Amino acid sequence: MRTASPSDLDSIVRVHQQAFEGFLMTLLGPRFLRGYYQCVLTYAQPIFLVAEREGQVVGFVAGFVNPPRFYAQLRQRKLPLALAAASHLMWRPRLWQRALSSLRRAETLALSNDEPTLAELASVGVAPAAQGLGAGKQLVLAFLERARERGVAEVVLTTDAHHNDAVNAFYQKLGFTCMRQFWHTPERLMNEYRIRLEQVESPHQEPSR
Ligand SMILES: CC(C)(COP(=O)(O)OP(=O)(O)OC[C@H]1O[C@@H](n2cnc3c(N)ncnc32)[C@H](O)[C@@H]1OP(=O)(O)O)[C@@H](O)C(=O)NCCC(=O)NCCS
Repeated sequence: MRTASPSDLDSIVRVHQQAFEGFLMTLLGPRFLRGYYQCVLTYAQPIFLVAEREGQVVGFVAGFVNPPRFYAQLRQRKLPLALAAASHLMWRPRLWQRALSSLRRAETLALSNDEPTLAELASVGVAPAAQGLGAGKQLVLAFLERARERGVAEVVLTTDAHHNDAVNAFYQKLGFTCMRQFWHTPERLMNEYRIRLEQVESPHQEPSR
């Protein structure tokens, strides 16, 4: 497990394409994905880690402290990101509604008040051939530990509520609690999970008796 660097971007895009097949960001194309993850890497407070096996990146976790600040930065890069996705959107007009919903959500979050003690875990992905071997769990636990080191009190994430039992079970096993549900589009219900870091035992702490 190590911090992601700009030279990992191509591998991260490849793992994302494999792990998130059919998801909106994947359908927006590799240039869009690269631009998005570059935005995470260049943000002031990223938490971005990769997992390697035999010298190859097989998984990653990407997120950021103070989500409203990150979304404000993303908003400033709206045009280059839209251009990166343009050729994919052009041939798939059905994607527009989903892309606009995501854009609206990012715009709303960008206008929220600063939350310096909150971090968002935006995506965790493991290449299909490496799934089920513990990399996803290690990535999330390392993410929580890095967040704690940055003074974060709580981590938030969202994932699909429907047809997504394995991922919901994965987060629940790691100690996340579903705090609310919301409709991202009229067809897509999301679960918002949160975890308070005081509930998570640090690897540096003495085990509780
Ligand atoms: C979700 C994901 C990151 C999990 O990573 P992984 O490396 O396969 O998971 P791990 O091997 O670390 O498993 C961790 C725990 O979750 C459980 N788990 C993982 N996948 C599971 C599945 N499909 N069904 C049930 N439980 C599962 C494991 O049993 C394990 O439990 P344990 O700690 O009690 O042994 C990975 O499957 C993935 O990339 N999925 C596609 C992308 C995605 O949906 N990401 C999450 C949304 S952002």
